[in-house]
Amino acid sequence: MKILVTGGTSGIGYFTIKELLKKYDGKEIFALYRSKEPQKELVDLGIEFVKGDLTDQASLDKACDGVDIVYHIAGDARENLPTQMYYDANHVGTKNLLESFVKNKCKKFIFVSSVGIYGYKLPPYPIKETHPKKGDNAYQTSKWLAEQEVFKYSKKHGFFATALRPNYILGPRDRQLAPKLFEYILKDKKIPLIKGGKAIMSLVHHKDLAKALIMCGEEEKANGEAFNIVGATTTVKAVFEKIGAICEKKPNFMRINYQLAYTVGLLGEAIGKITRKEPSITRRRITRFVASRRYDSSKLEEVVGFKPKYDLQKTLEDAYEWLQEANLV
Ligand SMILES: NC(=O)c1ccc[n+]([C@@H]2O[C@H](COP(=O)([O-])OP(=O)(O)OC[C@H]3O[C@@H](n4cnc5c(N)ncnc54)[C@H](OP(=O)(O)O)[C@@H]3O)[C@@H](O)[C@H]2O)c1
Repeated sequence: MKILVTGGTSGIGYFTIKELLKKYDGKEIFALYRSKEPQKELVDLGIEFVKGDLTDQASLDKACDGVDIVYHIAGDARENLPTQMYYDANHVGTKNLLESFVKNKCKKFIFVSSVGIYGYKLPPYPIKETHPKKGDNAYQTSKWLAEQEVFKYSKKHGFFATALRPNYILGPRDRQLAPKLFEYILKDKKIPLIKGGKAIMSLVHHKDLAKALIMCGEEEKANGEAFNIVGATTTVKAVFEKIGAICEKKPNFMRINYQLAYTVGLLGEAIGKITRKEPSITRRRITRFVASRRYDSSKLEEVVGFKPKYDLQKTLEDAYEWLQEANLV
């Protein structure tokens, strides 16, 4: 058995590899990496590596050589990228990987998609997998295009494919959102509370998502299916209050109207472009923080038998513990 994991350097990639190690030998697990050296934390897991980039077809052809199962986690979800970068990494990158997968006669493709594919403007009830897909930005649209490629290739070539659609992925090893959320509390920064912070959001712990990915890959009934995955459903305000309680600091909320926050987001993006750093406030983030979104993940439990283990408290506690260990807060 040979398994290829893309996006191994992400939090979800790391925990998926750890979960795979419970079942397979490290010599059977190959992580795709594109930097100069594979990450030390991954090397320490005792797995194998193969150099490659989703935008480089030849490197993917080589990476898929002799592979049975692909866990495709890599993607670009960062804030404020030029539009084409989302399409290149998420849509074209996934299509490239599928081409190499088919050429090498691989057998199973397990894909990390996103609930972003439904867009932000959603009705108040929990959204099911059949809800119309209407991305509101290039990232969301690129993920939907990628997911459609997965199932199109799977049908055409007759291989097993399944996809999981998370909302926020949080927990240990999250270098994207968690450092920014905790920084607001720890540095006593003003937290823009738009529309009272009542917007509903959901999140899932890396470890729950990793476990669900493996379970989906092993369940025949998951073939051809995509699943929402939700660990906890909460509000933006409750997340900051919980982080405040964990850090024993009172959140410094600042009520602000949407229009003003949106303008601050625009400013954040402009500063980000000049400093070449990912801004903590962008228009996309503001839009996300005011859009109430509930997702129904009952299909995942019914078809695959997966139930999340981590609630909001534990997810944030784990994220904080790791951020401290990694000196990121
Ligand atoms: N974060 C969330 O809340 C969230 C929610 C829903 C879905 N997702 C999905 O989850 C996956 C992981 O996202 P993340 O937010 O955890 O991101 P992340 O920490 O930024 O990790 C992205 C991963 O993708 C790899 N990657 C990006 N572009 C690549 C390319 N051209 N070739 C090869 N590898 C490439 C990165 O490799 P390097 O280390 O070399 O950069 C890294 O391993 C993505 O598919 C994303 O769409 C994330």
